[in-house]
Formats: sequence, structure tokens, C-alpha cells
Amino acid sequence: MEFPISRPRRLRRTEALRALFRETRLAPADLILPLFVHEGHGSEPVSGMVGVERLDLDGVARAAVTAAEAGLGAVILFGIPAAKDATGSSAFADDGIVQRALGRIRTETGDSLVLIADTCLCAYTDHGHCGVLAADGRVDNDASLEPIAKTAASQARAGADIVAPSDMMDGRVAAIRSALDGEGFEQTAVVSYAVKHASAFYGPFRAAAGSSPSRGDRRGYQMDPANSDEAVREALLDLDEGADALIVKPAMPSLDLIARVRAETGAVTWGYAVSGEYAMIEAASANGSLDKQAAVLESLVAIRRAGASSIITYHALEAATWLRDQ
Ligand code: PBG
Repeated sequence: MEFPISRPRRLRRTEALRALFRETRLAPADLILPLFVHEGHGSEPVSGMVGVERLDLDGVARAAVTAAEAGLGAVILFGIPAAKDATGSSAFADDGIVQRALGRIRTETGDSLVLIADTCLCAYTDHGHCGVLAADGRVDNDASLEPIAKTAASQARAGADIVAPSDMMDGRVAAIRSALDGEGFEQTAVVSYAVKHASAFYGPFRAAAGSSPSRGDRRGYQMDPANSDEAVREALLDLDEGADALIVKPAMPSLDLIARVRAETGAVTWGYAVSGEYAMIEAASANGSLDKQAAVLESLVAIRRAGASSIITYHALEAATWLRDQ
């Protein structure tokens, strides 16, 4: 049917009509807040990420309570340890910073908030890579599986509902699953960063977590941003190894991959709006080029529309407030 019979604008006439015909909704429960916890005292601003701080244990517990009160779906914890070494051993220390934070937050929020631990070694190794290094200086995939699986198990013991491996080693989901099951944690879920590009948009995060590689880059293990079929293969492999759900990151540069991964695997797929995405919106809003609230909500709904059921975003708390006020 053609114009003038067909008039799509009929359904756009009022906000009530637009609301009735809206295909994608965004709610606080769809949002996951990243929290940085350090072993220092007090909070420290993160350069490049206005409004984001490295928190101490008291601060992270307060932030988690606020997240629960705002109705967020979950928080995801990133640790900044006091000491780093070649194998990232503070990542799997039972009194490590993330482990202690999990215990504190659980005490204060009970089961009202889902607790996710990012499982990776990069903030804990003195060389800043996500695995351990072989003699030639490259990341040794198979030798990295044990410390990564140990980290996940120790996060589960500390009370994580979900561990989220972000290292991009081959075989790590299976290694983690077997370590968890071996300790009786068959109820701890693995949400895998299955599709993680070697992205320039992680810049501010690496400053926040102190996890920049001291030498080289991550292109030997993270995916080439040019690849799409490979993203689907990565997703299928992780599901085969026992992943319960998948993460695609960065989010806005990968909307096509969120859509493909969701459609071609049928698995629950999350998008991670990473630090660089946050920094871009903040910078453009600060100089008056963007309406921040509108830009944040539009980008989040676009990530949902692409197929992500939940979104990890540094804007989670602000967005939840705006969604409530709407
Ligand atoms: C750790 C990890 C990174 C991010 C999440 N987990 C950084 C990286 O791979 O260098 C990036 C998150 C962000 O930029 O917000 N491996």
C-alpha cells in the first residue's frame, strides 16, 4: 500500500502513540554498573572518565547499595591490586581485593543485587597482559588457563553469582567451568566475553585499572575488529564449552555483531558500552555538542535494539534515574 493510504506518521503523532508502538524498551534492570575497587584508602578519580572513581571497600559497598536501590540488574567488579607479579597471583588470592569486595557487598545487599566478577589477569600482572607470558614474550594461551580458572574459582568462593572471563584465551570457558564444578560451584554462571575486539575504545579503562600492556598490544588474543563470521564462531565455541550467556564489546561499534551473535546462537547476549564510548559522550556533552541524557538513552536503546538483553555501562546509575523520571 502506498501513500496516501499508508502513513507511518499516524503512529508517531503523540507520545502516548509512540509509547504504544515502541519496539524496544529500556529499564534500570537491563543495566549493569562497572565498579573499580582498589586496595588504597578513599576514592580516586579516574582520568579520562569524569564521574568514575576507584573506590575502596567502604566506597564500593556504598556504590553497590545505591545500584541495588536504583534497581540495576547487576554490578560487575574490577580490582586494582596493591601488588602485581608475573602470574597475576593477587587475582586468585582469597583475600584479594575483588574477593573482599564481593564478601562486603554480599553482606550489605544480600540477594537483591546480582554480583559479577570480571575474570582477567591484566590488572594483576606486572606486564599488563591478560595471561602469563612465554619465554618469547607472547601470551602463553594454555599456561594462562590455570591462573584464570583459579581466579574464577576464588571469585565464586567469595560469593560471585557470575564470573565473566574477559581474557580471550582459547579454552578458558571450559577450564573455568571445570574448576567451578570441581569445587561444587555448579550454580555459578559463566558469562563469557566471547566477542571482544582489540579496540582503541578501552583506553580510559586501562588508565582506570592500570592494565595497559607494558610491551606490545592485545591483538594476538583479542579479535580483529574487521571480523564478523569469526565473532559467531567464537560465540559458538564458548557456548560449547559451557558459557551461560555472552558479551560483545565494544557495543556501539559492534551493533551488527550483537545482532548476529544473538540471532545465530539464540543465546542471551549482552553489550558492553566500554570506557571510550562513555568518554566520547561525556566529552561531547561537556563541550555542549551533545545533549547528554538524550545521547546516552539513544545509545543504550540502540544496543538493546541490536539484540542485547542487558548492557554494561558506566552510565547505568544516571540512566536509571532518567528512566525513572520519564
Ligand atoms: C580486561 C578488560 C578490559 C575491559 C574490560 N575487561 C580491558 C582490556 O581488554 O584491555 C575494557 C572495558 C572498558 O574499556 O570499559 N581484560
